This record gives sequence, C-alpha cells and structure tokens, in this order.
Amino acid sequence: MSTPNSTKSQQWLLYCRPGFERDCLQETQASPLEASVNSGFLILQGKPRLHYDQLTFTRQLITLLAEVSELPDRDRLTPLFAAIPDTPAQFSALWLETPDTNDGKTLSGFIKRFQPLLEEKLRASGRMAEDPSLPRLHIFFPDKNRALIGTSDPRNSNTAAMGILRMKMPYEAPSRSVLKLAEAFEVFLSEDEKIQWIRPGMRAVDLGAAPGGWTWHLVSLGMQVEAVDNGPLKGVVADHPSVKHLRLDGFRYRPKHAVDWLVCDMIEQPGRVAALVADWIASGSTSRAFFNLKLPMKKRVEALNEALASIREVMDKKGFKYRLKAKQLYHDREEVTVFLARIKR
Ligand SMILES: C[S@@+](CC[C@H](N)C(=O)[O-])C[C@H]1O[C@@H](n2cnc3c(N)ncnc32)[C@H](O)[C@@H]1O
Repeated sequence: MSTPNSTKSQQWLLYCRPGFERDCLQETQASPLEASVNSGFLILQGKPRLHYDQLTFTRQLITLLAEVSELPDRDRLTPLFAAIPDTPAQFSALWLETPDTNDGKTLSGFIKRFQPLLEEKLRASGRMAEDPSLPRLHIFFPDKNRALIGTSDPRNSNTAAMGILRMKMPYEAPSRSVLKLAEAFEVFLSEDEKIQWIRPGMRAVDLGAAPGGWTWHLVSLGMQVEAVDNGPLKGVVADHPSVKHLRLDGFRYRPKHAVDWLVCDMIEQPGRVAALVADWIASGSTSRAFFNLKLPMKKRVEALNEALASIREVMDKKGFKYRLKAKQLYHDREEVTVFLARIKR
C-alpha cells in the first residue's frame, strides 16, 4: 500500500468520458501522474485547489488520499479497510466506482457485492454519518486488484455516483438526444431555478430541432415550442398542438416576441453557434439558453475556450450580468452542453 505523502503536493483523482483525458488534463493545468488515453480517469498533482464547477470535461473531482496496488484475490476487505485514512473521521456516503469503460463495466457485479460489506464495517466503526455536508468516501477500482481511495466535497463535485447522471429514456421521445437536454436541466439549474424557470405555458425556440428529442422534452415540461429545422420532426412532436414546426434556417430565424428559452443543437462550428446564442441574448430575444457545441476537432479545449470567450465579450460589452457554464454531460459525445442566462438585476 502507498499513501500519497502529505508533504508532497495534493493529488487529485478525476473521472472523464473515456477519450477525453487530454482535454481534462489541459483544462486543469495540473501535472499528470497518470492519464492514459481511453482510461476514463486521471491522477493529477500540482494544484492545491480545483473547482469542479469551472471544469468542463471533468466528471468527478476527488482528493486522492491512498492507493492499494496489489489487492489479493481473496479477502480484499481487510487491506482496503486498513488503507482508509483516519481523517476525515466520518463520511456521508461510500461510493465504490469503476472507470466508464468496457473493462470497468465487468467490475460492476464485484462492486455491488462488495459495497454492503465495506459499508457495514465502516458503520460499525463509527465512520459513517447522516450529515450530507460531510465528504463522501470514494473507492475507485481501475481494475480488480487496484484501489484508489479518496474523498469528494459535496460542494465541489458531481452529486452522481461515477459522475454519471443516469436518466431513463422516455419511450415516446423521437431521439436519444432528449437525454442531453433532460440532463442539462438537472445539472445546470438549482431546485429554485427549476421552479422559477420551468413553467407550463412558457415559450421556447428549438434551433436544429429534428427529429425532435429536445422539442419533446420542452413539450413534456409544458412549454410551447417553435421547432426550427428543414428536416422532418418524428413521432408525437410531428403533429403536437404545442409544437410549431418551422422549416427555416436556424441562423436567420428570430421570433417576433421574446421567448423564455432558446435551445440549439445544430451541428455547426462552435464559434458560429456561440455568436448566434450570444446575439439572441444580447438583443433580448431570450434570456436563457441551453446549447450544444460540437467539438470534433483535435484542439477541443482551445475551440471551446474561444467560443466561450466570444460570448463573454458580447455580454460584457452589453454590461449584462450573466451565468455561463459548460459541461460535457454524460449524454454528450464529442460535444459539450452550455448554459447561458442573463441575470436581471
Ligand atoms: C443533432 S441534430 C438535432 C437533434 C435534436 N436536438 C433532437 O433532439 O432530436 C442537428 C439538427 O440540426 C439541423 N440543422 C443544421 N443546420 C441547421 C440550420 N442552419 N438551420 C436549421 N437546422 C439546422 C439538422 O437538420 C439536424 O436535424
């Protein structure tokens, strides 16, 4: 067993979508101790503080405390329990996790069986408490014989185990894309904001709407939707009374009156989409938007940062107070989802 030396700089364990390790590393500007391509996780050092909220490609942020590198095939419980550091004294939860890879999935049966055993031992020794503000204990298994032990701060991390917000595919929705928008509403809005900003009868425009997954989600929230796309809408949204299908260019269309929400999933260069959405908000056509930036290029972080900087420039020039957040959601592939909202003073 090895314990990261406390005199050395703090070590971090991060999860990300497999294939995005380089982007994850780049955005943290930390030094890599381990960052294999397609592994779905990274071990970093050289940064005393990282802010989960400000990281786009990071699914989970964990302070790495210890590692057990040669777990025996039998009785893994004893060495693992012994390796859990004495501080913090108590945890609000125990999360056993694996990388989001095919190899990782083969360990899911093992961690399901192991979880209650370890949790019981932690409870019996007074290490678990019902206080949700306490750190969570993560035990991450890159493979069956290796465990990385760390904690996450509930105020500075993802609230979902494995950093993955699982959502059920609504059987009526015309495309799996629906899950991206459903996840965005969950991840970016607080409970208060959901009450304030999601109300039946609100009006939304969906740019690049076909086949209609995002439109379906907005309709399911009770909204009236103008769905802009030259392509056909499918399933129930095709002739839904709350949907107006406009076969128009999403880069040209503007509603006569301001709408409550703009959503945009057009496959276009990130800079073009960013400029469009910024202009919608700057000109008062909407005050809130969710949009997807497609990042098929090699220099994804640069392309994303450029797009976000261009939005900030427009908002700052207007003197607007605003919120701008970008995350690669679980349901995003080579893309990220962005939330932009003008905050009225
Ligand atoms: C990824 S799909 C959108 C999927 C949709 N969000 C859903 O949930 O079903 C991208 C869509 O953008 C549309 N699109 C691309 N450029 C467009 C433009 N300039 N104006 C309108 N639609 C556009 C395409 O026709 C395509 O249907």
